[in-house]
Amino acid sequence: MNNIKVNIADTFGTVSLDQLKNMDAEAQAALKTLADGSGAGNDFLGWLDLPSRTPKALIDDIKATAAELQKSCDYVVSVGIGGSYLGAKAVIEALQNSFAAYAPKADAPKVLFAGQNIGEDYLSELTSFLSDKRFGIIVISKSGTTTEPAIAFRLLKDMLEKKVGKAEASKLIVAITDAKRGALRQLATEEGYKTFVIEDSVGGRFSVLSPVGLLPIAVAGFDIDKLMAGAIAMENDSKASDTDTNPALLYAITRNALYRDGKKIEILVNYNPKLHYFGEWWKQLYGESEGKENKGIFPAAVDFTTDLHSMGQWIQEGERTIFETVITVENADSTVTIPSDEANLDGLNYIAGKRVDQVNKMAELGTRIAHVDGGVPNIQISIPALNEESLGQLIYFFEKACGISGYMLGVNPFNQPGVEAYKKNMFALLAKPGYEKETEAIKARLK
Ligand code: PA5
Repeated sequence: MNNIKVNIADTFGTVSLDQLKNMDAEAQAALKTLADGSGAGNDFLGWLDLPSRTPKALIDDIKATAAELQKSCDYVVSVGIGGSYLGAKAVIEALQNSFAAYAPKADAPKVLFAGQNIGEDYLSELTSFLSDKRFGIIVISKSGTTTEPAIAFRLLKDMLEKKVGKAEASKLIVAITDAKRGALRQLATEEGYKTFVIEDSVGGRFSVLSPVGLLPIAVAGFDIDKLMAGAIAMENDSKASDTDTNPALLYAITRNALYRDGKKIEILVNYNPKLHYFGEWWKQLYGESEGKENKGIFPAAVDFTTDLHSMGQWIQEGERTIFETVITVENADSTVTIPSDEANLDGLNYIAGKRVDQVNKMAELGTRIAHVDGGVPNIQISIPALNEESLGQLIYFFEKACGISGYMLGVNPFNQPGVEAYKKNMFALLAKPGYEKETEAIKARLK
């Protein structure tokens, strides 16, 4: 059984229970379309039963590979972008100590990320930082040809080979890519890298529970068995066709009802800074899945209370086209009590003796009431604590709801044709072989 709670009571100023009930049949149909694989994009449904069908042997292999990297490296660079980056980043940031980067000694290597941008300074600073460190590389690319990770990997591979020699470097590089096709598969075969497969039927943004996410997460020292156990619980529960037991169904119906009512922007809110990158992962999942054919809720994310001091004004009083989905972590992991102060110049003695989390929870409740009063409907998604099991549940919950929601919207949730447009122009501007006509056309446009 999963223990995620979805509370939609604070959307009822905008949508009614009848409205939601009227959408029930449509949501059931979307759920069935997913389950029987009869909808658009049905060759990308490998994620649906990924948690339950992942063999123990694969998990053991991931753990053994992670242990090898842990033995030989103080830093492991995970190279990838989009779906080959955000899942691992989200889970590691959510679970690791906020100051892990500054801790001199650690039980597990620090996982750094590259290939998620083309920042020259970023790459320069990363390579110079790593120059005297023991490091390894996990290179992740389904296609094997994505420009951003290809540039980063070329630099890091070159550096590692010069540092430890080609033979030793090949033992410190793990490639996660297509089973047979692509440049990275070919390189991995030629160089003898340890490899893991990204299945054809698992799209990038649905791949965090495959080796793509699991290997970096395991290297960082987190329990992938618990993560998968959480996901399995949600995989089972989200098959149910009633909204009382299937939280993914309830969330998908509610956000579509709000969208149809003119709420075009969904803001994912957290009150725990460790969830910042979870918001980034969620933005890719929903943005790439739903934003097409001139349709789709715009997914935004904020960190509260930090952003209450910036975006708070817009959310309270700006254009009323938004709704909020708040991830509530019911219990903080640590205990910090606010001390009393004799002078009390800051006037805080009225909360002396309270836990910081109690104050955070009152900020959350107060904000929810203010935003609902201000015309912002609110969906609350609660997890008991920030741990592997809850994150596994939450990941699968959002994936399943995304599939249902995309079908309710009437789009193919599993393609991303729009991401090619920038690549085509960039290749034309860089005069990539094969793009001669496009180069000519774009140069003429820029004259
Ligand atoms: O969701 C997606 O498919 C994309 O975001 C890809 O994950 C991203 O472009 C990286 O692609 P690749 O793994 O082929 O390098």
